[in-house]
Amino acid sequence: MSSTSRLPGFYKMKMAERLRRLAAALEDPDLEGLGESDTLPLANADAMIENAVGVLGLPVGIGLNFQINGEDVLVPMAVEEPSVIAAVSLAAKIAREGGGFKVDADEPRMIGQVQVTELANPAAARAAILREKEQILAVANALHPAMKARGGGAKDLEVRLLQVGAETHAVVHLIVDTQEAMGANLINTMCEGVAPLIERLSGGRVRLRILSNLADLRLARASCRIPFEAMSDFGFSGAEVAHGIAEASLFADADPYRACTHNKGVMNGVDAVALATGNDWRAIEAGAHAFCARNGRYEPLTRWWVEAGALHGSIEIPAVKANPLIPVLLRMMGNPGARRLAGIMAAVGLAQNMAALRALGTVGIQKGHMALHARNLAVSAGAKGKAVEEVARALIAAGEIKLHRAQEILAKMVGTASAEVT
Ligand code: MEV
Repeated sequence: MSSTSRLPGFYKMKMAERLRRLAAALEDPDLEGLGESDTLPLANADAMIENAVGVLGLPVGIGLNFQINGEDVLVPMAVEEPSVIAAVSLAAKIAREGGGFKVDADEPRMIGQVQVTELANPAAARAAILREKEQILAVANALHPAMKARGGGAKDLEVRLLQVGAETHAVVHLIVDTQEAMGANLINTMCEGVAPLIERLSGGRVRLRILSNLADLRLARASCRIPFEAMSDFGFSGAEVAHGIAEASLFADADPYRACTHNKGVMNGVDAVALATGNDWRAIEAGAHAFCARNGRYEPLTRWWVEAGALHGSIEIPAVKANPLIPVLLRMMGNPGARRLAGIMAAVGLAQNMAALRALGTVGIQKGHMALHARNLAVSAGAKGKAVEEVARALIAAGEIKLHRAQEILAKMVGTASAEVT
């Protein structure tokens, strides 16, 4: 650990120099893993963020078996948690039995907020802003004529009167069609650009001018219908499994403690696709959770219910647009546009959630998790090839899924020369 967090001039250094400086501060010459990357070139990393000292690797896997609006899709997912990709692939396979997922997404309309304070007469200010709506939209669009020419740009404007402490503020929502663009810079520029006009019209003082990540005009939806026959597993009938999932859905609806974990499972899938496709996953997370609280209480993103011999599921989630870091991963999905990608993410979230509830509503998730954990420990202990399964099985049988146990088991197997371990 360093005795100081003051490293003057750090941001101006080249990355190699930064690493030397960091090693000196930490009195640790061996910063293993930093300053090397086979994926993102270090020079790019250095240009992307400040004070860069390396690149963090994450596994990228493929979610299989997805059928979305009748088409098969391979879904790239970047995630460090074992079992996420296996689980979602299995859920997508089960959903295929009912025709896969149906998805759709709204036009890419985002909201930019302009906060107007110090208003003598908030209602009159609101009316004055609304009267000049067309002029405000024209000023916003003049800042991005190319976007307007492509059919996008500022489309509409709303004004909310909001009690903030002792004051009433007018909050102008600029509604912008961002087309295939990410949109954040576009919207922020527009919000800043219309602020002087809004001040003149309202007689108030503009403070914040920034997009809202609560993208509730830009929702993606996915749904599925799975016949009971496709659901039987773990020694349970399909109807039992389906009812377990529907009950888990009601539990999440009734309890924010459960809804939070339920939604974490949904976001396991959504975030993994977001990361693999270069999306701002913090924006997706913030938007998703704010959307869940839109009715004044925290609710689940998905709903599951049983009807006419089948399990039905649906999800609605604010959508976003990718900015690919690894273009091949988007090409794998046929270079989806903003709306299609949003639909794919919604389907993945729904499938990921179904996988978790299917296990939770029946045998619990630990059985599957521990089997994967045992395999990981076997690999960490040095097992290779067939020995991975053998060590994992022995760990589970021993009821002690720990690294030292895996090492002991492997050592014994090497002793008897029965295993392929090198
Ligand atoms: C673990 O990453 C996700 C779950 O906790 C989700 C859930 O409980 O629904 C299994």
